[in-house]
Amino acid sequence: MSLRNLDFEDLKRKIKPKIQPLIWDSTRKVLHVLDQRKLPHCVEYYEARGPEDVHYCIKNMLVRGAPAIGIAAAYGIAMAAHTLSARTTSLEEIYLKLSEVGQFLKTARPTAVNLEWAITTMLEHARGMVDSKSVSSTRELAEALERLAVKIQEEEFELELKIAIHGLEKLEGCSSVMTQCNAGGLAGAGLGTALAPIKLAKYLGMDIKVYVPETRPWLQGARLTVYELRVENIPHVLIADTAVGYVMYKGLVDALIVGADRILRDGHVINKIGTFKQAVIAHELGVPFYVAAPKSTFDLKRRVNEIVIEERDPDEVRKIGNVLITLPDTPVYNPVFDITPPRYVTAIITELGVIYPPYHVNVPRLLER
Ligand code: MRU
Repeated sequence: MSLRNLDFEDLKRKIKPKIQPLIWDSTRKVLHVLDQRKLPHCVEYYEARGPEDVHYCIKNMLVRGAPAIGIAAAYGIAMAAHTLSARTTSLEEIYLKLSEVGQFLKTARPTAVNLEWAITTMLEHARGMVDSKSVSSTRELAEALERLAVKIQEEEFELELKIAIHGLEKLEGCSSVMTQCNAGGLAGAGLGTALAPIKLAKYLGMDIKVYVPETRPWLQGARLTVYELRVENIPHVLIADTAVGYVMYKGLVDALIVGADRILRDGHVINKIGTFKQAVIAHELGVPFYVAAPKSTFDLKRRVNEIVIEERDPDEVRKIGNVLITLPDTPVYNPVFDITPPRYVTAIITELGVIYPPYHVNVPRLLER
């Protein structure tokens, strides 16, 4: 199978997501959120009826992963617009209220820039429609915002497919890779980022085996990536986080591929805790380390010392599930993301193409053109 002749439109028609983290009900104007806290044992959807519910879902990780929380927030704004349109006829007033909703949604989680990106995209569209008078009622504005949220979700699937195509070129000849956390369809619009090339390989009849670190403390690897790879029938092996170095040392993986929550213009990659350690070991052992992410994950404005790394509940570390594994009052530090310096990153795979070092030159060159 040649990777050179892959036809995007043909693949788009044929590849359907097997995983649906977010389902929009346009009749009832509610968002069905796959409750990822309950996976892999139970597939259950939570009905989000407004921005407060969406905030709850993001903060409490019913939906997680950078692109997915952005999509959820876009629907949160659309739902708010529908509710507000029944209460006010003033376009200026609805815009101001939606801006407040946007500020509120941004507080759900601080690290993934996609959340901010999606909210800004929705609000700028609203501002543009109000200023240009291209809508004549608050109802029309709400409908247009709903259409934009749907478009953000649909386009996310398309760009995940483009990431799959570019990523598979980098993984050509690899028989096994290691990932981190869950950067799959559960974290995006069905295909994911880091897992997208592996799914495309499967579709083309090639098996790439995935080593999945458990990803303590929230266990996204053990609970979500394993589930997703099982659904896709992709060979995989779960490993303890502490086994990451030894697995690479033994030569069991040909490459690493992870997602990202934020990538800076100089190539610093902010991703799930444990990524930095993987990248350093990969560099030491000469194993390629790839990051796969859409344009919406890039933050071209902020510097590394301005990034807020989320710290979560200490009990996530003290317990596994409901089982206490240490003393109940053990002091805990629980940062859930880390920062990988650009020198450890072999290439960044985006929907627009693959970016190589020097990133401070090539990131803006590709993304600002
Ligand atoms: O805390 P999470 O589960 O939201 O963290 C998710 C990650 O770190 C992913 O690697 C990242 O968001 C990319 S998802 C395509």
